[in-house]
Amino acid sequence: MAKIPSRRKIIIDTDPGQDDSVAILLALASPDELDIRSVTTVAGNVPLWRTTENALKILELGGGTHIPVYAGSARPLTREPVTAEHVHGETGINGVNLPAPVRQPEALNAVDFLVETFRASEPGDLTLCVLGPITNIASAIQKAPDIVAKIREIIWMGGAYFEVGNITPAAEFNVYVDPEAADIVLKSGVKLTFIPLDVTHRALCTHQHLKRFAALGNKSGTAVSEMLQFSERFDLAKYLWLGAPLHDPCVIAYLLKPDLFSGRQINVSIELKGEFTTGMTVADWWGVSKRPANATFLRDIDAAGFYDLLIERIGRLP
Ligand code: RIB
Ligand code: CA
Repeated sequence: MAKIPSRRKIIIDTDPGQDDSVAILLALASPDELDIRSVTTVAGNVPLWRTTENALKILELGGGTHIPVYAGSARPLTREPVTAEHVHGETGINGVNLPAPVRQPEALNAVDFLVETFRASEPGDLTLCVLGPITNIASAIQKAPDIVAKIREIIWMGGAYFEVGNITPAAEFNVYVDPEAADIVLKSGVKLTFIPLDVTHRALCTHQHLKRFAALGNKSGTAVSEMLQFSERFDLAKYLWLGAPLHDPCVIAYLLKPDLFSGRQINVSIELKGEFTTGMTVADWWGVSKRPANATFLRDIDAAGFYDLLIERIGRLP
């Protein structure tokens, strides 16, 4: 008898963003497998006040008003903020016009929440799904190194190697915004899986997929279709592909159906000093550096299986 996996407790750390929003909806649509304990927000695609407001709006859209939201870092550990309104629009979730959230974020800031929550948790009880710059997690680890032993694992949409960068020729946005944070998390020894552009650039949201979301006939399906029709503009003009890459939902899909993905345990190092390469994830895919493996770096995805899962689950929502 196959062992039924128990529900996995997760914390989603995010900078919504249209693709973050789809990831949150996918998690909300999967209550048998995922127990979303909280959402923590970070500055990234847009400033913190907007990512926090967007998280509250998307949770309300998807029926997740029982899930607390904690606002975290308004800026990277040391660098000046970098945002991506050119991709996501001024609100961060342009494409939809959702009502003002009825709830407020919790009073406690996300970094202290993460420290307190992991200190109070059993080792291996909680998984972190990181969808933006990893500043909150790095700050919590700096404040309380003891929590590393409590974190089951971190699944992070971040980095790029064979696909090179998207915000610079060498760096992917989530790492580029706060490379020092990425370096701290990597060096902490926490179990870390990267879902890089090498994967997400193979998960293209074609217009056939957008039509499938719209055809679901529910609010969430319509909102996903509308959000992604907005955010695809930039990528379609840039890459001239048949669809825009869909990044953050891959993190949640990996927890739901890991067999859709493949990769390997390798050394990943973060470039912090390069004039042209700062923020690059130097992924030793071929093992030439002899540096010890410190992360799982995914490389491929069954895109058809991913969209079948994603569209079916979004169809379960309000
Ligand atoms: O590079 C893609 C990542 O940057 C995604 O998480 C997207 O939401 C942006 O944060
Ligand atoms: Ca994101």
